[in-house]
Amino acid sequence: MAYEIATIPGDGIGPEVVDAALPLFEDAADAAGFTFETDRFDWGSERYVEEGAMMPDDGLDRLESYDSILLGAVGHPEVPDHVTLHGLLLPIRKGFDQGICKRPSVLFDGIESPLRGYEGGDINFVVYRENTEGEYADVGGREHLGFDNDVAVQSGVFTRDATERIVRAAFDAATEREGKVTSITKSNAQAHSMVFWDDIVEEIGEEYPEVEVERLLVDAASMDFIRRPEEFDVVVASNLFGDILTDIGAIVTGSMGLAPSANINPDGEYPSMFEPVHGSAPDIVGQGVANPLATVLSGSMLFEHLGEQAAADALWDAVTEQVADPDAPRTPDLGGEAATEDVVADLRDRLSV
Ligand code: NAI
Ligand code: MG
Repeated sequence: MAYEIATIPGDGIGPEVVDAALPLFEDAADAAGFTFETDRFDWGSERYVEEGAMMPDDGLDRLESYDSILLGAVGHPEVPDHVTLHGLLLPIRKGFDQGICKRPSVLFDGIESPLRGYEGGDINFVVYRENTEGEYADVGGREHLGFDNDVAVQSGVFTRDATERIVRAAFDAATEREGKVTSITKSNAQAHSMVFWDDIVEEIGEEYPEVEVERLLVDAASMDFIRRPEEFDVVVASNLFGDILTDIGAIVTGSMGLAPSANINPDGEYPSMFEPVHGSAPDIVGQGVANPLATVLSGSMLFEHLGEQAAADALWDAVTEQVADPDAPRTPDLGGEAATEDVVADLRDRLSV
């Protein structure tokens, strides 16, 4: 089987981590007996500065036939963040109906959590984030611009289809894991959208009597991600809340540089997209020290989605083994002094044995 993968390295450290990880992905594919080809799309903020758009008008058409997309990061200090997000990432997530954003938070052996008393294996949960609407819907506007009474309206959009889809995905995941779903809302304050969400969790939960359901308000959940992260199994949340909570999930499990993410089109009509949770990290760009592990783990999720479980496991296991080895190279975010390239070279050695 030969797959076609589109890469969008993007901005900042995005190209550093994507370019570093690709040879490793080829090793994993070789060992598992399949091949893939990549086409690189140099879309992002530099293109925006030169040509006025993050990607070409027919960008989605050009991506549509690929089996998967691997993205680095977008974001540039000189381009407003809403331009970069709305010019590239959000159109892909929405245009390819990637309604399920899956973000695992795993504290690996050998990684120090900033939380006292936690060791490898103590934290292991996955966040299912709705990825096409909610608080990120492009519904609203600004009025009376240039006057003192200017005003902004930003509406949330919650459809039954998208809400059922993400909630059902979370329950399905829980049946394969520890059997617990935590639904996170703000239904005390947002009495329309979030109560609708609660109703759907209740309806779908009835189809899964063996799954334990917990409900938390997002403020309490933010506290509990820090106070008792070991008690979460599958977490389901709206677009905004999922975004915020997964940064907490990333940092309590060691580093932004370790957190992977999948944007999945559930019916497979369009390609799914895999990317590290982190952004373009302008503070460390060009130094060659970006941690590539979030991208490597995203590659593992990509292979898993393609049905190439052996290659997916090989990548995940190589990372697990590397971070558990006190003598292995580590980038500065994990307390080491190694370069991006050293970390990947060490992973390639581990894969080949
Ligand atoms: P960020 O994730 O880029 O960086 C946050 C902190 O984590 C920084 O100190 C950075 O050095 C560190 N960090 C992140 N990834 C790392 C890695 N692989 N290795 C080592 N350290 C790493 O978030 P920030 O600074 O808020 O945003 C920077 C830019 O990225 C902004 O323009 C923002 O809009 C964009 N962004 C893009 C995202 C995406 O493409 N999915 C997600 C988040 C932010
Ligand atoms: Mg985020």
